[in-house]
Amino acid sequence: MQDERLITSSLREEDVKNEYSLRPHFLTEYIGQETVKEHMQIYIEAAKTRGESLDHALLYGPPGLGKTTLAGIIANEMGVSLRVTSGPAITHAGDLAALLTNLSPGDVLFIDEIHRLNPNVEEVLYPAMEDFALDIIIGKGPGARSIRLDLPKFTLVGATTRLGMLSSPLRDRFGIKEQLELYSPESLKEIIVRSAEILKIEIDEEGALEIASRSRGTPRVANRLLRRVRDYSQVRGSGVVDLETAQEALSMLKIDELGLDAVDRKMLTAMIEIFKGGPVGLDTIAAYTGEDAGTVEDVYEPYLLKLGFLARTSRGRVVLPAAYIHLDYPVPQQASQVQQMRLEV
Ligand SMILES: Nc1ncnc2c1ncn2[C@@H]1O[C@H](COP(=O)(O)OP(=O)(O)OP(=O)(O)O)[C@@H](O)[C@H]1O
Ligand SMILES: [Mg+2]
Repeated sequence: MQDERLITSSLREEDVKNEYSLRPHFLTEYIGQETVKEHMQIYIEAAKTRGESLDHALLYGPPGLGKTTLAGIIANEMGVSLRVTSGPAITHAGDLAALLTNLSPGDVLFIDEIHRLNPNVEEVLYPAMEDFALDIIIGKGPGARSIRLDLPKFTLVGATTRLGMLSSPLRDRFGIKEQLELYSPESLKEIIVRSAEILKIEIDEEGALEIASRSRGTPRVANRLLRRVRDYSQVRGSGVVDLETAQEALSMLKIDELGLDAVDRKMLTAMIEIFKGGPVGLDTIAAYTGEDAGTVEDVYEPYLLKLGFLARTSRGRVVLPAAYIHLDYPVPQQASQVQQMRLEV
């Protein structure tokens, strides 16, 4: 189901080919995320000056915000090689041992979805991260003994959409932890202009900003919508992406001015009409959208929270006044009160 929504921040098949060519390679090309960029710039420069490998870094935040991209940039800026793997891909401790022993000094090992590492594998990772050593058990039964293998000093970069699902011993072993935030429309506009240049798409500033405003704070969505609008403008317009073609194309795709699609609107409408604005449990919301609860929470909700359309409470999600206004419903008093309470906290 998830893959059918054009505004999903998860990777869709159509993105794969483009993401590679659109990926920035150095920090200067990485748009937005100013705080993260400033921190990384300092850590990288300091490590390089000392001639050391960079501290292990954990990058977390919703899908499509540039975690994988940043891992590549870290390796480029450090002038080392990048090895890419993911939590679910490392099934046995031996797989990880093989990866680690093949690294060169300073290399970046990128583990995507690191919250999905098998606990046996995680055990091997601890001494590797802390002491750059691998403890290997040789033999079985009473004759078994453990030997310690030295590893090159490497940098582990872990990425996760779910910081809360990471075990705390693992989390604590990262010296650098950076949270990626949803992008502002202005940053997304810059990303779109940059992508358009690479893809040789003619676009003007207003057209770019229009796509940016409907991209849910997510570069991956922005790049995807850019390609869709380009197709539209080639067939129905002059080939140049301007405000008018962007608006027409995105309305045709049923993506509204704020980037909500039909499923978002259906979900919010159900929450307002059937559940009187909530609180509504996550599972109920998931049932209305046809997604699983984890997907709603990780992929679709962050943007609705950021817009101030929804709030998370201990009893479930509640609809806030901004959502009523956007969907043309009168704002009930109780929704204003929830908003007020949130402001006072
Ligand atoms: N700061 C940025 N500047 C320019 N382009 C960006 C930036 N961040 C991400 N992108 C673009 O967005 C695409 C998606 O980014 P990326 O694959 O790094 O996201 P991710 O956080 O790893 O997602 P996931 O959680 O699904 O793995 C990239 O191909 C890149 O083109
Ligand atoms: Mg990624």
